Amino acid sequence: MTERPPEVLITAAAIAARVDELAGRISADCRGQGEILLVGVLRGAFIFLADLARRLTVPCRVDFIALSRYEHGATPGAVRLVMDLRTDVAGRHVLVVEDIVDSGDTLSYLCGMLQARGAASVRTCVLTRKPDRLTAAVGIDYVGFDIPDRWVVGYGLDYDGRWRTLPYIGTVDTPATIEG
Ligand code: IMP
Ligand code: MG
Repeated sequence: MTERPPEVLITAAAIAARVDELAGRISADCRGQGEILLVGVLRGAFIFLADLARRLTVPCRVDFIALSRYEHGATPGAVRLVMDLRTDVAGRHVLVVEDIVDSGDTLSYLCGMLQARGAASVRTCVLTRKPDRLTAAVGIDYVGFDIPDRWVVGYGLDYDGRWRTLPYIGTVDTPATIEG
């Protein structure tokens, strides 16, 4: 694996501007609905959620769930519930906040679970989406950026635990892409 710093795909300034826009749209759409429950998907969404939440102008509460999709690096695995919410979602308007949608399996699993638990509504906000890879039938209400089919890191996203705290989103060569 390369030790070079990830190549910049989306700058910190572009992320901040887009998060502002998303927060404006979400605040306008949710006005009058009462309190919104933000559900952040750990660990990747923690930075995005922190920035987004502080720009929303509607009343919110925050909870986290930990789901794991990839067990080792870039090798796909089944969706696994690692840590559950502490909030009872029944009757609440929920906004799922996710770092990235790849196949869509994680988001589809989570939305199904929230609906089964009786949420009043479930909406989704993802910072990045790889349109070429999306296979699950899942509604995505707010998207920050459509990105190419590359492994991205930074602003919460990692590769095997690395690069998560970079202020920008960058691309890295994973073994799969190096080997072709
Ligand atoms: P999905 O279930 O296939 O949509 O995968 C979503 C999850 O896979 C995300 O929440 C990430 O944890 C992980 N993931 C997918 N692509 C990337 C990437 O390019 N960088 C970092 N994590 C990724
Ligand atoms: Mg994630």
